[in-house]
Amino acid sequence: VRPAAMAAERALAMATCTAPVNIAVIKYWGKRDTDLILPINSSLSVTLHQDQLKTTTTAAASRDFTEDQLWLNGKEADVGHPRVQACLREVRRLARKRRGGGEDAAALSLSYKIHIASENNFPTAAGLASSAAGYACLVSALARLYGLEEELSEVARRGSGSACRSMFGGFVQWQRGERPDGSDSLALQVAPETHWPELRVLVLVVSGEKKPVGSTAGMQTSVETSPLLKHRAEVVVPERLAQMMQHIRERDFEGFGQLAMRDSNQFHATCLDTFPPIFYLPDVSRHIIALAHRYNAHHGHTKVAYTFDAGPNAVIFALADTVAEFVEVVRRSFPPATNGDQFVRGLPVGSAALPPELEAAVLTEPVPGAVQYILHTKPGPGPQLVDDPSQHLLGPDGLPRSRA
Ligand code: DP6
Repeated sequence: VRPAAMAAERALAMATCTAPVNIAVIKYWGKRDTDLILPINSSLSVTLHQDQLKTTTTAAASRDFTEDQLWLNGKEADVGHPRVQACLREVRRLARKRRGGGEDAAALSLSYKIHIASENNFPTAAGLASSAAGYACLVSALARLYGLEEELSEVARRGSGSACRSMFGGFVQWQRGERPDGSDSLALQVAPETHWPELRVLVLVVSGEKKPVGSTAGMQTSVETSPLLKHRAEVVVPERLAQMMQHIRERDFEGFGQLAMRDSNQFHATCLDTFPPIFYLPDVSRHIIALAHRYNAHHGHTKVAYTFDAGPNAVIFALADTVAEFVEVVRRSFPPATNGDQFVRGLPVGSAALPPELEAAVLTEPVPGAVQYILHTKPGPGPQLVDDPSQHLLGPDGLPRSRA
């Protein structure tokens, strides 16, 4: 190495980004390539606002670091995890390609070891799709560190399939792609978060329990054993995807909500069709489903729509003018066990009194404590760069800051 070039290299570089969680309304379930994480069908999601749910990640590189290191929520974690390594390798490959082998003396050396610290602003144990936000954030922070400006959903996909959709805000499609190398399996923004200002999201956190079968293992068993999943991927999803895009374009809540519920139900049906079967929805989740249908039936149209991923938490879509009433319905159906913790969190929720006819038609025997809390949020933007250096999760020594 030429001494002049070496001197010009920066000794320590650091970048911090935040990234959002997303919730699919046309579900991804099943891979055609498990290594490259290529799906058997396209999917479509809504990116949730980072004011309520986000991951923050700082990536640093220095000639003084002796090994790659990773900290998750303050605890050291395995940086050798194959998916973390895949993301790192891909980002570095792109950085190398970008430099075209030419000597860019001011560029950060690609041979430096890196330190990564990542944390969530929500309890990881709550099962709120933290891997999507986590990998989207990792890739965004690494890209910043190495000065990459291209679209990187293809890299985030290597961390976790659903993570590619967290690389954009608003309404996002992950197109399955056709090529065996995965170069056309990427995320595309269908509409920005400003497209549907009245849309709201309620996350009903029902349980801190770990899910019985993780998505990665579960979907593989489904691919191997479920004929329903094959039919879904080949026939159902292509039709639904086109319909869902139209409902979003037209801001048609009736169509959007109906299809979101049907697609969630079909995903869980493919889990039951998997052999041995997988059950992600406990009693409380089914109670919420029944409650949503009674509520909609009472109003004579779709006011709320539920969707469930590989776990028991319900994600409810509603328009802003429905939130207060439905939250009251949930509170009455699942009265909080303790008054200590806030039952409703996130965006403010107004108060609503339930008309007696609604109470009679919609409420049944309450199940106290079944819903831990409700998080009120809305669609939000994609990954963000954090400019303020005081927000870095790593200190000038490259180690996690002891945060109060
Ligand atoms: C049910 O993206 O977590 O949430 O690609 O193996 O990491 P891997 O799986 P993951 O699966 C998400 C499945 C889902 C549906 C969805 O988000 O589309």
